[in-house]
Amino acid sequence: MLKKECLENSSYRHLIDKAREALQNSYSPYSHFKVGAAIEDVNGRIWQGCNIENAAFGPSNCAERTAIFKAVSEGVTSFRSLAVVGQIEGEEEITEEVTPPCGLCRQVLAEFCPPDMPVVLANRSGQVEIYLLGDLLPLSFTEKNLERS
Ligand code: THU
Repeated sequence: MLKKECLENSSYRHLIDKAREALQNSYSPYSHFKVGAAIEDVNGRIWQGCNIENAAFGPSNCAERTAIFKAVSEGVTSFRSLAVVGQIEGEEEITEEVTPPCGLCRQVLAEFCPPDMPVVLANRSGQVEIYLLGDLLPLSFTEKNLERS
């Protein structure tokens, strides 16, 4: 963890609010776990995403990938920061445990985001944990691995 801070004093407060807003559209009738993500591009635009599940389970998409794929599909491929929150369906507030990006999402993020990009995770009590993407996915497989030596 790079940093732990209070939501009130966090410069990521707006991004976290956007992630919280995004989870309202979560389609999660199987897990009953709503996830919201908000990723800020290098021009300051925020892209929101939620998890979208499927009866066949495999085709389900996480909130982080929904957000980044929305941006990439609009021609935006450079990002500055990401916030993620989770909430159990039927509960009033986000979880007490922070919701970290899954391994698949970390790999997708590594494709477009720098290793020093902050990944911001917030919880119910107003605590914010900030990680660097490169710490969440060290030794990631990237385009460099495809080059001839
Ligand atoms: N989920 C996300 O949206 N992001 C993550 O990084 C962790 C997991 C979703 C997938 C599934 O819809 C639900 O949370 C329960 O695993």
